[in-house]
Amino acid sequence: MNEIIKNRTFMQCPSFTASMEKSDQKNGVEAPSYEHHRTGEFITLPAFDDTVTCSSYLDLLDTRRSERVYTDEALTQEQLAFMLWSTQGMQQMRGKSGVAYLRPVPSGGARHPFELYIAVKNVSGLEPGLYHYVPTEHIGEKKVTIERLGPLFDDYETKMNDLLVGQKWVTKAPVMLFVSCIPYRSEWRYNDAAHRAMLIDLGHVGQNMMLSATALGLGSCCLAAYDQKLCDEVFGFNGIDEYTVYVLTLGKVKAKKQND
Ligand SMILES: Cc1cc2nc3c(=O)[nH]c(=O)nc-3n(C[C@H](O)[C@H](O)[C@H](O)COP(=O)(O)O)c2cc1C
Repeated sequence: MNEIIKNRTFMQCPSFTASMEKSDQKNGVEAPSYEHHRTGEFITLPAFDDTVTCSSYLDLLDTRRSERVYTDEALTQEQLAFMLWSTQGMQQMRGKSGVAYLRPVPSGGARHPFELYIAVKNVSGLEPGLYHYVPTEHIGEKKVTIERLGPLFDDYETKMNDLLVGQKWVTKAPVMLFVSCIPYRSEWRYNDAAHRAMLIDLGHVGQNMMLSATALGLGSCCLAAYDQKLCDEVFGFNGIDEYTVYVLTLGKVKAKKQND
């Protein structure tokens, strides 16, 4: 089977029942925890209740576009908070078990195998650096805490350019969101059928990210072209238990003239 045929087959629905029969969940293994933070300083961002500027869902869908040219303006902490909550915030526990949480995006079996990491270049009042969203801090609240992982790279432009395989325009973005995947969260339930489901989950995350950016009047672009090894290294992922799966740029864009 050549690679293309193999990958086509991967997109087809496997036997979930047969896969789940052999899963760790079926075998009574305890569910993995969503407590995933490190030891960085925790920073709670301001409330984001009044940040959404788009009032019509029709307009939202009609204006979302991939934007790759940003102004030099800073984002606000409220905007960053809304972006994080609207894609990965934890709204409520599902059932009584504590093994699943509901979020603004759907996920197969409510497994939610993703984490959000942030490269902050220009956000008002926030020191530039690498951060990580800690959704377990505020389950059921519209509140966002991030942890500081460390400083930004010395030579930002060169490094970002390397991380995003020569897509030079990304270096202007004041914020970059890096989505990582922790595959065992989904494998625990779906075993070898987890991976296709996680890719579908990821599409929902990307769409919420872009619509949320549009709702804030910001521009964004999803990127699947990045250097796997370098991105994993930057955030300290081992590439097996956790690895980068998607990147999103975020920034202000110049107001458009009609018919632009
Ligand atoms: C899975 C995926 C991967 C993408 N990767 C990149 C990328 O690496 N670089 C880029 O400039 N745009 C990337 N894009 C943006 C697409 O080029 C864009 O969505 C497409 O041209 C349609 O434009 P629109 O989003 O404005 O409707 C990606 C989009 C998706 C959904």
